[in-house]
Amino acid sequence: MKKTSAPQTSPKARKKKPPYPDIREVLINSEEIAEKVKAMAAKISRDYAGKEVVLVCVLKGAVVFLSDLMRHLTIPCIVDYVDWSSYGSSTSSSGVFRILRDLEESVESRHVLIIEDIIDTGLTLHYLQRHIRGRNPASVKVAALLDKPSRRKIEARADYCGFQVPDEFVVGYGLDYEQKYRNMPFVGVLKPEIYAGRDTPPDKP
Ligand code: IMP
Ligand code: MG
Repeated sequence: MKKTSAPQTSPKARKKKPPYPDIREVLINSEEIAEKVKAMAAKISRDYAGKEVVLVCVLKGAVVFLSDLMRHLTIPCIVDYVDWSSYGSSTSSSGVFRILRDLEESVESRHVLIIEDIIDTGLTLHYLQRHIRGRNPASVKVAALLDKPSRRKIEARADYCGFQVPDEFVVGYGLDYEQKYRNMPFVGVLKPEIYAGRDTPPDKP
């Protein structure tokens, strides 16, 4: 039988710093995300069978989720992007938005599926849904990778939700803190000392 050589960790390698020193813990690893996104896409494809859908991706955080999700969808779809910037702290919505990029596609009489990275206070989604409904779509639904239900300030819910997360500030898989960490392939909890003294602690707005 052929011997399989398991990689040996040398004392030097063991001393190496972790690749993500600002992360306290990995909350959802890349395999779990991939499996969930595939299952979400299968459900969405079943629910919208025979229909065309306009995927409205909320920039910038939802881009990674969108790109994985859409490649598993078997229904015809069109992609559009919106960018809503909330005034106030960089880690929590104030509820007052500046539209940096609005829809380019007409959504009138079309099925819209909003693609969000995370629902936190619910303010972004609440007002975005209202904005889109004002354009007379055939339907509006929401797919969110993450949900922090304990932080809700206004009614907002996802029709398709990946994972519920605790009241912690998370980054990775598109989500950022000060535009960083979006490229990490997993969702992790940021070490509180990274934002301490620099901004409102995200879990205590
Ligand atoms: P909401 O308006 O409070 O629901 O916030 C929604 C937006 O805030 C999300 O689309 C994210 O961009 C951002 N956000 C909320 N919580 C987190 C987090 O834990 N990490 C990174 N971004 C977050
Ligand atoms: Mg966002």
